[in-house]
Amino acid sequence: MKEKQKDYLAGLYKFKAGEEDSLKNKDTEISYDPERPMSFEEIKRLDEKYLLQTYARMPVSFLYGAGEFLYDTEGKEYIDFLSGIAVNSLGHAHSDLIAALNRQADMLWHTSNLFFNAQQALLARALVEISFNSKVFFCNSGTEANECALKTARAFGQKYNKQKILALKHGFHGRTFGSMSLTGQSKVRDGFGALLENIDFVEPNNITDLQNKFDSDVCGLFLEPILGEGGVLPLTDEFLSEAKKLCEEKEALLVFDEIQTGIGRTGKYFAYQHSNVTPDILTIAKGLGGGVPIGAVLIADKYCSLLESGSHGSTFGGGHLATAVAYEVLRSIESAKILENVQGMSDYLFSHLENIKSGYPDTVKEIRGKGLLIGIVLREDIGARPLVAKALEKGLVLGRAGENVLRLAPPLILRMPTAERALEKIEDLIKEI
Ligand SMILES: Cc1ncc(COP(=O)(O)O)c(C=O)c1O
Repeated sequence: MKEKQKDYLAGLYKFKAGEEDSLKNKDTEISYDPERPMSFEEIKRLDEKYLLQTYARMPVSFLYGAGEFLYDTEGKEYIDFLSGIAVNSLGHAHSDLIAALNRQADMLWHTSNLFFNAQQALLARALVEISFNSKVFFCNSGTEANECALKTARAFGQKYNKQKILALKHGFHGRTFGSMSLTGQSKVRDGFGALLENIDFVEPNNITDLQNKFDSDVCGLFLEPILGEGGVLPLTDEFLSEAKKLCEEKEALLVFDEIQTGIGRTGKYFAYQHSNVTPDILTIAKGLGGGVPIGAVLIADKYCSLLESGSHGSTFGGGHLATAVAYEVLRSIESAKILENVQGMSDYLFSHLENIKSGYPDTVKEIRGKGLLIGIVLREDIGARPLVAKALEKGLVLGRAGENVLRLAPPLILRMPTAERALEKIEDLIKEI
């Protein structure tokens, strides 16, 4: 690892001895030194001085990663049980992804969507083959995928002169105006003036509430099959079936946001495949790129003509680099039998976490989720945030979902010895509460 660290630093602090930084920063308080990496304190100072402070960051800066592990600027090792919030599906520095990226980087980076693109077409075919009969639109992020889905649902509504969209309380769909308007959490929505009108929120898993709010003006229903940010909360099969039934009866599009749950995270390619409900529109991002930014929307064949030439677009969407890597992500998931691994590791983690829960019933209320998206629900008065910080001190990267749920989203390549070590750390953490 030391060699790798040296190579990495040589690349990051690329100025060779004596070579000048062509940017000639006026602020010389902190400058690059090829012999000495920036310390965490220096990085933090630059961040606070020059970056918009929209993130409550944890006090760590990672320098490199390998498989299920991350290494910080001080050389400390961490088990990664968050995967960059369910993004690094194949772990860090996966050799096949690096090769795919390098191959494409040598050939062509960007041409725009004015021209045909082989990588994009191949990736679209691969996505359709693992989901349902549909066509794909590529973008760069989750929120953009939902914007496209929202436009499609509203275009559909125009045909029947209706505009209302339903989404779920505690759901999360992104930070742009449309996706924010669909997000049922006041901490995300408040403070920006008027949002999109004609959006109503349904209590998750409450069929009566869904039936009551599903009036004849509804043209689309947005759901996460497992609410991610909303506390790793799975929707019941009954709720999903009722959602499908109502959408069919009342002429509305069923949109599943699988930005967090898609691409193998739950042990199937998509979480909806655990149920017998197929959506009309599927939005994905995060794990699709394994770390490169990409989003995609799959629209069922029947509704493809709702977005015609000129009605939607993206400069960077489906670019050569991102699609080349995403194609390799899908290929690797298939060839390395990753879905089986997710299922096996998931069974192992769930059974041990249930044991931990039994040992500490006053602290842990519930273990929920699916595959390798797992929520540890803590007693209401136990904040997850300080626990995430404590886990970090112990060399374990965890996430949180809501105020009192710890979120586990390890890479899908997780191996048994790493899972065992992580469970020990989690048990220590719970024990210390
Ligand atoms: C379910 C879901 N939808 C949408 C988003 C937004 O994705 P992005 O941050 O890529 O815009 C997220 C991100 O956490 C998500 O979990």
